[in-house]
Amino acid sequence: MGQGVLEAPGYSRRDGVLWCEGVNLGVIAERMGTPTYVYSAATICNRLESLTQALAGLPVHIHYSVKANSSRAILALLKSRGVGVDIVSAGELHRALTAGFAGSDMVFSGVGKTAVELERAVRAGVKSINVESEGEIASLQEIAADLRVVVSVALRVNPDIAVDTPHKYTRTAELGMKFGIPHDSVMRVARGMTEMPNLKLTGIATHLGSQIDAVAPYARAAHLLVRLKREIEGAGIATISTLDLGGGLGLGASGDSGAYLQAYAEALRVIAEEPGTEILIEPGRFIVAEAGVLLTRVLYRKSSGGTEIVVTDAGMNDFIRPSLYESLHAIESVDIADEPKLLANVVGPVCESGDFFATGRLIPEVGPGSLLVVRTAGAYGYSMASNYNSRPRPAEVLVDGDRFALITERESDADLTRREISAPHWSED
Ligand code: LLP
Repeated sequence: MGQGVLEAPGYSRRDGVLWCEGVNLGVIAERMGTPTYVYSAATICNRLESLTQALAGLPVHIHYSVKANSSRAILALLKSRGVGVDIVSAGELHRALTAGFAGSDMVFSGVGKTAVELERAVRAGVKSINVESEGEIASLQEIAADLRVVVSVALRVNPDIAVDTPHKYTRTAELGMKFGIPHDSVMRVARGMTEMPNLKLTGIATHLGSQIDAVAPYARAAHLLVRLKREIEGAGIATISTLDLGGGLGLGASGDSGAYLQAYAEALRVIAEEPGTEILIEPGRFIVAEAGVLLTRVLYRKSSGGTEIVVTDAGMNDFIRPSLYESLHAIESVDIADEPKLLANVVGPVCESGDFFATGRLIPEVGPGSLLVVRTAGAYGYSMASNYNSRPRPAEVLVDGDRFALITERESDADLTRREISAPHWSED
């Protein structure tokens, strides 16, 4: 974890027991059951504040990436702190609108927006639609013409920048990948847009990947965006007023996130020097990851072929990152502060060998009934949860100082089948 300004204030031990801010995690488990996601509001605000401070003096607007954690109580908290949002679907549009954001607070990214989604975004007055293909541009022009409006559009560029991330699935910016318009096609596409009376090209956007611990790729991307802006303006095609560098912030390769943020701010400076240009960034994980834990209870312990196995009541349907990306998440006991001495696989109840939170990991000597937390689960935890194995999705709880509140109810069995029609009403033709 980072040092200094980024030390997450959210979690600490009191008499050996793990607390989130002023609340004993054991109490949350008793009252709300497990598995439950718990978030520290102070950590979310602290993360946002450290980013804002590092970028002070630059014309930057933060658009929190809703996909990282889409719970409306979290969105409302962020809204109260003055950020905008980055959305990628009509579902996220609905969430953001009902959490209090205006369309003008939003940028809309995504490689496969449907006509219905585009229309809803246009009607909501989204600040910028970040388009990713010529087909999407044509569709958006038609929609905007039908609605008799002019829509602000940013071209999402594939910059062909390779980034080093913990897993290949979290890289997005190389040619051949599905994201964005290849950088060498941008001028042609931008020219084409001059034929589209209902679209106003106002921005250029990119996104490099997730968990990027180096700053050099951002510096390269910033230079590319500035170059493209100058080319577009130089050719008299449009005036570009926003350059959007996307999300993906890691915590810094050295672990010193303070230094990382300073270097990141430096990388953005080249854009700040362009007159009349607003910088947009779309961090998700950076704001919410460290704020969240997945609270889970140990069901059983067994050993097999010399391997100790700890079975928890949370599974890959609740938190899929270890299975999907082989991501490493610290696992701690709520009650046992002793040195971890048990070498074990921590697994869930789902009928898949890929259902694990850790393999060959040293953890405290836990047994049935022990409470564990899976750390750094505030980003892409609940938002990627599913009902696989017909498991209801967990509850979400927000902690704020000495108080805590349920922000998402645990799903019930009835929720699982609510939309199913077990006796089909057949149609013919
Ligand atoms: N902007 C765009 C256009 C994005 O596609 C993403 C993430 C972000 C911003 C936010 O990136 P962040 O700052 O959170 O890294 N499920 C994966 C991450 C995939 C992210 C996809 N796009 C994970 O669990 O790590």
